[in-house]
Amino acid sequence: MIEVLVLYYSRTGRTKALADAVAEGVESIEGDSARVKRVDYATVNDFISCDAVAFGSPNYFSYMAGLIKDFFDKALSVRERVAGKPSVAFTSGGGPSNSALLSLERMISSFRLEKVADGIVSQGEISEENLKACKKLGEALAKRALERAEVPKD
Ligand SMILES: Cc1cc2nc3c(=O)[nH]c(=O)nc-3n(C[C@H](O)[C@H](O)[C@H](O)COP(=O)(O)O)c2cc1C
Repeated sequence: MIEVLVLYYSRTGRTKALADAVAEGVESIEGDSARVKRVDYATVNDFISCDAVAFGSPNYFSYMAGLIKDFFDKALSVRERVAGKPSVAFTSGGGPSNSALLSLERMISSFRLEKVADGIVSQGEISEENLKACKKLGEALAKRALERAEVPKD
């Protein structure tokens, strides 16, 4: 079974709703299972052991939330071990800015993860459309993780 980690931070529940929708998309693909974890309950080992990872954050001052940044800081020493894992990002903000998403996608690039699809920016209350888009994001991530697992490593 392929395990997709959905790592997020949320204070008022919006990013959590998006994370749950990503997980629903992952679970809809046969052979994939989702593990949704708030970042302050996750460890670097969760990052190492998963097959793919989705990062979700509220937009805080045009950047990802501090706890998500702290997670990446702690994971620096395992960068080589996680390189190549399929990854996506999603954010929730009060306004329409994609600045938090760009900060997450910069981390995806710094860690040399594989960006599977363009991320999601939601604004204000979470809409049905946001949830649908996150579900699709989860599906795309899960499919790529399966594909990658089927290719023998040399
Ligand atoms: C400390 C703080 C800083 C924020 N900065 C921004 C910001 O720069 N841009 C923005 O669009 N929203 C900003 N917001 C609004 C949150 O991103 C928004 O309410 C988000 O949907 C909250 O997500 P959550 O429900 O998952 O906690 C900020 C909120 C807080 C608490």
